[in-house]
Amino acid sequence: MVDAKESTAVREADKRLVAKDVLRVFDDADKGELTALHDFDLEAEHGEIVALIGPSGCGKSTFLRLVAGLDKAQGGTIEYGGEPIKGPSYNRGFVFQETNLYPWLTVEKNIAFGLKARGVYKQQKHRVQEMIDLMGLSGFEKSYPHQISGGMAARVAIAQTFVQDPGIILLDEPLSALDAFTRAVIQDEILKMRDRFKPIILMVTHDIEEAVYMADRIVVLSPRPGTNIGEIVVDMPHPRDRISPQFIEYRHAVMDMLQFD
Ligand SMILES: Nc1ncnc2c1ncn2[C@@H]1O[C@H](COP(=O)(O)OP(=O)(O)O)[C@@H](O)[C@H]1O
Ligand SMILES: [Mg+2]
Repeated sequence: MVDAKESTAVREADKRLVAKDVLRVFDDADKGELTALHDFDLEAEHGEIVALIGPSGCGKSTFLRLVAGLDKAQGGTIEYGGEPIKGPSYNRGFVFQETNLYPWLTVEKNIAFGLKARGVYKQQKHRVQEMIDLMGLSGFEKSYPHQISGGMAARVAIAQTFVQDPGIILLDEPLSALDAFTRAVIQDEILKMRDRFKPIILMVTHDIEEAVYMADRIVVLSPRPGTNIGEIVVDMPHPRDRISPQFIEYRHAVMDMLQFD
């Protein structure tokens, strides 16, 4: 039996995210006008992981906020499935660097929260258990956020977003505060989730290795005002071998693009 949600997901898989000539200027009381993004373009399709990499302050988080519908651009267009993005939607999930779990809810209830808020928990309850299994959270269902490690909290935040099965998932350096080992494990878990749900994933990272390990494409931004300076298609099957010559060549290619004089 095909449930309604599955058939929606199939239809939505044709949708593309297309951003063109995006301009975002902030009016800063002290510094006057500050152009965060200028003529920035990005396209992505379902099942793809696109990494955004660039110097601090070049507008990466700003771009994710625009795609999430949490902020508005002054110029250019951002469309998903041909429709301009006008405001926030559960169909575009955001995972921030700082995990914002509800401290008074257990892991299980934190994951279920969004489904309950949308009134679809009864029909989609099975997804909560699926998230717990896929994200390695078994045994922690009844724990509260203060009882779990930073790695586990990051997993819960990621699960909270994927459980909604959004078309677009925005990851803003969610793993940057974690140790290298935990990060590597969660990278694989995110790849599993991508294979299962096939959303569009935009991932901001300052970790070149993370970008080469996970992304299908790496979009490199210039220093502020951020704009495209290049794109690298990472054409390697998963699981990727982090110490293979090819992997290291990709790392060099990204580093070369990030050099400015
Ligand atoms: N709400 C805001 N008001 C004023 N300036 C902002 C605001 N948000 C971001 N900026 C500025 O825009 C620039 C880009 O910020 P951000 O997108 O957070 O950079 P990144 O994520 O690439 O490090 C920075 O100079 C930042 O200070
Ligand atoms: Mg940022």
